[in-house]
Amino acid sequence: MTEAPVLTIDGPSGAGKGTVSRLVARRLGWRFLDSGAIYRALAWAARRRGVDLNDADAVARVAGEMELEFICDDDVKVLVDGEDVTDRLQTEECGRIASKIAAYPQVRRALLDKQRAFRRPPGLVADGRDMGTVVFPDAPYKVFLTASAEERARRRYLQLKAQGLDVNLDQIIKDLEERDRRDREREESPLVPAKDAVVIDSSDLSIDEVVDRVLALLPETVKSSSGATASSGSGGEDQLRRN
Ligand code: C5P
Repeated sequence: MTEAPVLTIDGPSGAGKGTVSRLVARRLGWRFLDSGAIYRALAWAARRRGVDLNDADAVARVAGEMELEFICDDDVKVLVDGEDVTDRLQTEECGRIASKIAAYPQVRRALLDKQRAFRRPPGLVADGRDMGTVVFPDAPYKVFLTASAEERARRRYLQLKAQGLDVNLDQIIKDLEERDRRDREREESPLVPAKDAVVIDSSDLSIDEVVDRVLALLPETVKSSSGATASSGSGGEDQLRRN
């Protein structure tokens, strides 16, 4: 049986991967994997169980034990052990812990099958750091989405402010740089573009422009069989670029 097609979208935090991946998946009618949410869910579950976060084996055991469920309506809900933790996964603290435990090889191995299980017809858009290099190396379509550090920090700042959180831009820049450094320098599955990935810099692009560039990489036959719509559908209200 031929495997369902996969489009991987990797890149650093704040490059716009989440928004773009969701829109592209919707346009193609494909499933969507937010692999960062899996690492965040594990961070949350490990904390909840009082596991020592410096103990890589113990954290990896939680990865095997936790029950993870994604419910996709208009928004994606994440359930860990039956509890809706969607909002709690969005905090900076959860992101920091996720980035720490994501460096453990045992943890990454324990999460491989959970991620690969998302690959089902008609296709999958997979968002993360190692989707094109490790999880789906045979994916036919690969993107590495990036943007300048300042622009990524600015977007994250606006996003958190919109959620009503009290945030500090300098702290966000520091956190982002720290996470990027850890993601790039770790030995296991470091954040690097796959050799066959197309690099897109979103610093000066709107969401619609990025979505169009990504969709342009897919052959017309794939798009028409997926029923992809011809024009961008974000309404342009969520601009990635500086307004
Ligand atoms: O993408 P998001 O910020 O939600 O990811 C949280 C953390 O999980 C990242 O900082 C990264 O360290 C880790 N991660 C990873 N590999 C992935 C997705 C996320 O290491 N495929």
